[in-house]
Amino acid sequence: KNQIRIAIDGPAAAGKSTVAKIVAEKLSYVYIDTGAMYRSITYKAIQHNVPLHNEREMANLLLQTDIQLTPGEEGQLVFIDGNNVTKEIRLNDVTNSVSIVAKHGLLREEMVKRQKQLASLGGVVMDGRDIGTHVIPDAEVKVFLLASVEERAHRRYDENIAKGIPSTIDQLKKEIAQRDKLDSEREVAPLKKADDAVEIDTTSISIYGVVDQIMKLALERI
Ligand code: C5P
Repeated sequence: KNQIRIAIDGPAAAGKSTVAKIVAEKLSYVYIDTGAMYRSITYKAIQHNVPLHNEREMANLLLQTDIQLTPGEEGQLVFIDGNNVTKEIRLNDVTNSVSIVAKHGLLREEMVKRQKQLASLGGVVMDGRDIGTHVIPDAEVKVFLLASVEERAHRRYDENIAKGIPSTIDQLKKEIAQRDKLDSEREVAPLKKADDAVEIDTTSISIYGVVDQIMKLALERI
């Protein structure tokens, strides 16, 4: 059986990780959340007072940092230098700073190197912003997930409630739009649909509807 690579890109809170996890489980593939890697280095920099705007310092910090993504009972666990930071990297201060860090070309070079390595054996579902365009440009399946800002803010709000993180819809709409803007307008590997990616607008489709579409694409290639 062919161990294919599935790349899922799209803007913030479009449901990428939710569907990627389900698809990975159905295929017994490894799920790799590349956003968690950018969040991890951002979290470490905040902890160590490393200036987020400084490209060289941030790239050096990453070179000295071990990031591990491992499957846990309730989803993927994230470890930085052996410490479990799964919850911490989802907090607001990280979420609202990560796009500053993600624009640094030097840092992205190292991230992409690590991500290519993780994808090299196949049998992976990887989600992020530049997976179809830079990390696995020859992925067997490429999907670009979209949803309206309104819908994404509501989904993130519900997630936050479940996790006990305080937020308001209006604030989330602003933050999501701001992150999309930074991610789409940066010079290095901006958020962009790959020419050969299949676009799915999830605004009015259920999670399982999206999963079915991706599974269909995957099964054609396996
Ligand atoms: O996917 P998630 O929303 O957790 O990603 C957090 C941030 O990490 C994004 O807003 C983006 O700035 C950055 N990112 C990226 N490239 C990726 C994945 C995430 O630039 N492949």
